[in-house]
Amino acid sequence: MSNQIILPRILQVGENASLEIPTILESLGCIRPLIITDKMMVELGYAQQVQSCLQDHQINSEVFYDTVPEPTVSSIQAGVETVRNGNYDSIIALGGGSPIDSAKAISILGKFGGVMRDYKFPRIVNEEGLPIIAVPTTAGTGTEVTRFTIITDETNDEKMLCVGVGFMPVAAVVDYKLTLSLPARITADTGIDALTHAMEAYVSKKANPYSDSQAIAAMKLIGPNLRRAYHDGSDSKAREAMMLGSTLAGVAFSNASVALVHGMSRPIGAAFHVPHGLSNAMLLPAVTDFSIPSAVERYADCARAIGVATQADTDEESNHKLMAELRALNEELKVPTPSHFGIDKQQFFDLMPTMAEQALASGSPNNNPIVPTPEQIIYIYKQLW
Ligand SMILES: [Fe+2]
Repeated sequence: MSNQIILPRILQVGENASLEIPTILESLGCIRPLIITDKMMVELGYAQQVQSCLQDHQINSEVFYDTVPEPTVSSIQAGVETVRNGNYDSIIALGGGSPIDSAKAISILGKFGGVMRDYKFPRIVNEEGLPIIAVPTTAGTGTEVTRFTIITDETNDEKMLCVGVGFMPVAAVVDYKLTLSLPARITADTGIDALTHAMEAYVSKKANPYSDSQAIAAMKLIGPNLRRAYHDGSDSKAREAMMLGSTLAGVAFSNASVALVHGMSRPIGAAFHVPHGLSNAMLLPAVTDFSIPSAVERYADCARAIGVATQADTDEESNHKLMAELRALNEELKVPTPSHFGIDKQQFFDLMPTMAEQALASGSPNNNPIVPTPEQIIYIYKQLW
């Protein structure tokens, strides 16, 4: 039995890694990059920073900044046109998960045409689009090291999961300094997303020794540092640990898949426009509680890696501590319930059967230690209220 591991060709990791973008482009033989980002990155001056750095190396670039949170089929269209009408040989994807996910879709559609639905899972996208250098500014979605992108079809609110080596960036630039100005809310949401990636990869039915080693390393980095980064954004040691942890968690889940939390999270995000990390955070305690009996040892390993249990604790004690920690974390990081987020109760309850169906159809729940029935998914959704 062997496992295929897919990674970016280049990983530039550490303080000021982003200053190496011109060198990376040169090593790839690329000279005409399009920077794909969002308005926030332009306002914060990050896009300009990358452009000037490229200019210092005589590389001219253009900026496309019209990506939106939770990208949709129509939101990426202008980017696709920009690539089709331009003469670019590469893409620098700068920002949180949404600009990078948008760039992945734009890279494939810009080069090969068609519509996003054509590239939706279960089709595996092996085509090579324009090479992407992914530069995350959150810690994070891990999308800089995954072969996935998610684009919402706004006509039916379906979050289309797209999979294949065609969506793997050729290079990932992992520079924690880009996260120093992140607001606390985004630090919390994206940090819990990263923790969820590591935990889900570790308990996934597709886990393998390679993904396990990355997942455990990620939890060791994220566990003690998420609160620190949330309370003091300028804590560079905590930011550095979160950034590396997020990337390792990305490597883990790209090669072992995510499970029930992500499966149930996407329908909430699509129907009620809850940011991805936040809907994961709402679900993580309830889904973990549901799943622990089917993977007692694995979850106990998670508790020890995160640092809330020790080798002296039994598996049962460790899992008890894990549950307490996940609930405490949500409280301390001020994760709202769906109700506090402003979701209408009647609408949420009415949509539960549809959301359960969509969750199961995404395939992610099949990787969970216990594969739930639609009724069990509804039971978990109800617990969130
Ligand atoms: Fe995620």
